[in-house]
Amino acid sequence: MQFGDDLPYPFKAHPWFKLWVPEPEPGCAVCFRPGRPPRLIFLQETDFWHQPPALPGGDWVRSFDVVIVHRADEVPLHAPRTGRWALLGAPDPAWDGLGTWNPPALLRPLEWERAAKTPYEIECLRRASLRGAAAHLAAERAYRGGASEYEVHLEYCRAASLREEELPYNNIIAFNEHAAVLHYQRLERQAPMTRRSFLIDAGAPCAGYASDITRTHSAGAGLFADLVAGLDDVQRDLVGMIRPGVDYREVHLEAHRRIGHLLAEAGVIRTAAEEAVERGLTRTFFPHGVGHLLGLQVHDVGGLMAGPEGGERSRPEGHPWLRLTRELPEGCAVTVEPGVYFIETLLAAAAADERRMLIQWASVDALRPCGGIRIEDNVVATPSGSLNLTRQAFARHAADVAPS
Ligand code: GLY
Ligand code: MN
Ligand code: MN
Repeated sequence: MQFGDDLPYPFKAHPWFKLWVPEPEPGCAVCFRPGRPPRLIFLQETDFWHQPPALPGGDWVRSFDVVIVHRADEVPLHAPRTGRWALLGAPDPAWDGLGTWNPPALLRPLEWERAAKTPYEIECLRRASLRGAAAHLAAERAYRGGASEYEVHLEYCRAASLREEELPYNNIIAFNEHAAVLHYQRLERQAPMTRRSFLIDAGAPCAGYASDITRTHSAGAGLFADLVAGLDDVQRDLVGMIRPGVDYREVHLEAHRRIGHLLAEAGVIRTAAEEAVERGLTRTFFPHGVGHLLGLQVHDVGGLMAGPEGGERSRPEGHPWLRLTRELPEGCAVTVEPGVYFIETLLAAAAADERRMLIQWASVDALRPCGGIRIEDNVVATPSGSLNLTRQAFARHAADVAPS
């Protein structure tokens, strides 16, 4: 419940529950004992204020021993009382005494293993990308038709058939200068007088798994449109690096080298790519990590782990925002999301030190009103190389609307 009120926050099932149950409802529990079917204790609360959930109906139910209860305090009573239990989730006194909450010795190996996805999980991610890509196309049409940020957001939700609280993360829908704010969260109700650029970072769920997709559109031709096209080439090349065994830190550092080249070619910086990377100049324009693990959480767990027992695998020095430093295991799902931004605070910091001489300020001034660019796909490391679920989804939708 919200503090001091009788209104609940939107219900969000935690990832360890979603791992088992693709259609979670509040108050339920799963009890797992090796070698036996998992028990789903399903709460169908007797309540005349709210609509109780329908009994679970998907094919997956056949894999469970389902117990239906009608009162929340009955749920823990149906947990088997034998043996030693680990309890995963937000600690709840109703379960105390049964076992230990979130023991690290169990959680660490589970978090480590979550990086590599099963074929079922990859199929969920594929469908999440399809759903997100369809809504991205609808959102772009709304933008081109003159909608405001808020109206584009509504159109995205409508096209994906999602309530706002069902989105895997808050939509980032940013016009013009707003695209310089990495996680821009305001949705202007008023359409701007001038349209220059449109960055949309928005995903969709499938059975608890998330897609995380970004596209940047230029309203017209020119330097910004060229930079969008250039970053798109860079992004595709980085996606090509995703395969089992690759050190993701290398993908991140290669992104900096490639963005250095792009900025030099576009006349945004006055120095060669190598020097731009060495002197930290590319970080002025690309301050975040090139991507992260993806799955039941948009920023999936375990990205910095050194091994199944824990420990941390370090980030390259000077890159504090990178969320993934592991060697990619076969089947792992990641995002690849390089960006180029014109962020006032970072530009001001560069202008105040020796980097000032390395920047072509006339180009920066021409690009500032467009905010920035990010291009983000969801990619699986397969034995035969990278599988780009997002590009595949956009291509599939394009084929669906192409005249035959
Ligand atoms: N949507 C947040 C991110 O791309 O990481
Ligand atoms: Mn992302
Ligand atoms: Mn994103």
